Amino acid sequence: MGKISVFNMASHGDRSISKYAEEAIKELREKINGGKVLLALSGGVDSSVCCALLAKAIKSQLYCIFVDHGFMRKNEGDEVENAFKNFDINFIRVDAESRFLERVKGVTDPEQKRKIIGGEFIRVFEEEAKKIGSVDFLAQGTIYPDVVESGVNGKKVIKSHHNVGGLPDHIEFNEIIEPLKPLYKKEVRKLGQILGLPEYLIQRQPFPGPGLAVRCIGELTKDKLDILRNADLIFRNEIEKSGLDRCINQFFAVLTDMRAVGIKDEIRTYDYTLALRAVTTDDFMEAKFARIPYEVLANVSERITREVPGIGRVCYDITDKPPATIEWE
Ligand code: XMP
Repeated sequence: MGKISVFNMASHGDRSISKYAEEAIKELREKINGGKVLLALSGGVDSSVCCALLAKAIKSQLYCIFVDHGFMRKNEGDEVENAFKNFDINFIRVDAESRFLERVKGVTDPEQKRKIIGGEFIRVFEEEAKKIGSVDFLAQGTIYPDVVESGVNGKKVIKSHHNVGGLPDHIEFNEIIEPLKPLYKKEVRKLGQILGLPEYLIQRQPFPGPGLAVRCIGELTKDKLDILRNADLIFRNEIEKSGLDRCINQFFAVLTDMRAVGIKDEIRTYDYTLALRAVTTDDFMEAKFARIPYEVLANVSERITREVPGIGRVCYDITDKPPATIEWE
């Protein structure tokens, strides 16, 4: 691994975000000066905006690796790829679903799942990076709250920065560049807009690095993940249709490992129980469960049990954080 000297953009002070974009592009061009830059794109807001900014600055000097671990929400992998397809960069999508599923086969412990997925992510990323050869810079979409939450200047650690798998060990690079480091999330979204990213990427909700793997309780199988993806999409569609997506900060479905007895077409069933989670929050450190009207919940439940084979019961999580966390695992 190369020397870690972090390239800090000067604080943006009261510059407007479009001025920031203009100056960052100029500074990045000068700094990178014909070199090669490698970026791990997760499809989240920060890495996507980081990618778009670098793309504007250095175009085909940017190598962007998008590891599709197969734990994305429905359509999200394609959405990420489509957003960058007209950028003049080296965009590498690695379809690693079967590889990840093989690695987590039989694993039920949440921490172990996270560890395995994080480790495998790094391995896949490194394998792809090796094909590119040595690079001059590794780019990261770190933003200001990540720095604060990871504890700087002797401040207490509030949340350890939990991106998928930390830094790769076997990649040759000289420096890390973090061009979003002075920005808050709102400013990052604004920057994404200025850079022409689609709204679905800019407004994307936080998504854990291990993705649906931590929303599918117990052992992970392709079948269970597909059931979860289909149910999750219905929940998202109904929330968007009701307009509640504008005031709920994060909402998703969780496939529990519990089955329950039911009846469909006069036949006894024994299918999975699905949980719906939706929260309102300012900072994701504390959260209230969202007060979704019963009619909306009724529609979601009716559609999911009718349209998604394998789900026989739907519950709504009415726990705040604390005591519960937002994710289930
Ligand atoms: P919890 O479950 O701790 O989640 O209340 C707080 C927020 O963090 C997100 N989250 C993650 N984000 N990697 C991430 O980048 C992770 O491993 C991870 N786990 C949780 C979660 O979705 C929520 O927004």
